[in-house]
Amino acid sequence: MSSTDRDLDVIPIAQPVIGPEEEAAVLEVLRSGHLSLGPKVPEFERRFAEFVGSTTASAVSSGTTALHLAYRAVGVTDGTEVVTSPFTFVATANAAVYERARPVFADIDPVTLNLDPEAAAAAITERTSAVVPVHIFGYPADMVAFEALGVPIVEDAAQGLGGVHHDGIAIGGRGHPSIFGFYPNKQLATGEGGMITLGSAEMKVTIDSERNQGRAPNMDWLDHDRLGFNYRLSDIACAIGLAQMDRLQDMLDARARAAGWYREALGPLATERGLGLPCPDGATIEGDRRGWFVFVVQVPHDGPSRDEVIRALRERGVQSKPYLPAVHLMSYYRDQFGYREGQFPVCEDIAARSLALPFFPQITQAQVARVSATLADILA
Ligand SMILES: Cc1ncc(COP(=O)(O)O)c(C=O)c1O
Repeated sequence: MSSTDRDLDVIPIAQPVIGPEEEAAVLEVLRSGHLSLGPKVPEFERRFAEFVGSTTASAVSSGTTALHLAYRAVGVTDGTEVVTSPFTFVATANAAVYERARPVFADIDPVTLNLDPEAAAAAITERTSAVVPVHIFGYPADMVAFEALGVPIVEDAAQGLGGVHHDGIAIGGRGHPSIFGFYPNKQLATGEGGMITLGSAEMKVTIDSERNQGRAPNMDWLDHDRLGFNYRLSDIACAIGLAQMDRLQDMLDARARAAGWYREALGPLATERGLGLPCPDGATIEGDRRGWFVFVVQVPHDGPSRDEVIRALRERGVQSKPYLPAVHLMSYYRDQFGYREGQFPVCEDIAARSLALPFFPQITQAQVARVSATLADILA
């Protein structure tokens, strides 16, 4: 077998769904000559806000820049503290550091893997400027408990598109600034891109100004009345986003179907070998529903390590990744903020054993079966 033949056999970890509709949408923008600050931006914002049921939304250049502007909007600033989960992508914490705020971590719930509201409550001080629940792996955080804390909330919903809370409100639709990201592995992909869903039209005015160098809508070109950034999303990206909106529900359904195949195929490994699987919908609050983003499992305590499993999978043509490493144990956070092992034991145990398996809307049942059989073989 040549190396090309072997390469063809590799099951990738993620893959966006891009078709003729996205190609046509991009071509239309290119031919219009209106590549930025054009009509596709508000159209994408409207469609996205409608999907999650938010009052309004602002499109920005990434999930990370969305976090930065959302933090600024709720008053995260120099010397304040942002309480969040250590089991997240590093951007959740980094964006607080951009404003010279301190990321204060609190441990996660062992079932949902989301920030534990009681642990978050214990971490709140008079310096807390925001609490940031992360809807990790698309599973809805317990927002009712966070709302009871009486602290400004920013929701990191970068992984949460399509998830629904027990009360029927979609992730990102509760009125707190909620951020989404459109990197190619996400439920909706524009290459790079992000969105902030908002309950306040007034907040949108500030955010739209800050994403555009601090220019108010009624101001002239090159006139600026506040500090701003270039966090704009181009019309090309927004056009891709609009084409993706048309197929969003189908893509979400396909991910949920693939998750069902995995759950069935890996069920015996969970019961007989102690493999950790994503918690089912309604695991802690009846009616909570995941928006499927990744399929992450935890290797058992008593077998090969997570990294050994990843290596063995790779040797057999299955891509997988450690997902996610604990943020507080990253060298930057250890060095700058003094975090150490042992501070968040639930997160540390889960993070050390977690890996993401191949997961994307076009994955076939045969591919899921091959991944699952390979994993079973490695853990046997
Ligand atoms: C939880 C979380 N927050 C923030 C981000 C940042 O998004 P982006 O990569 O679009 O900047 C990501 C990206 O994966 C994420 O998973």
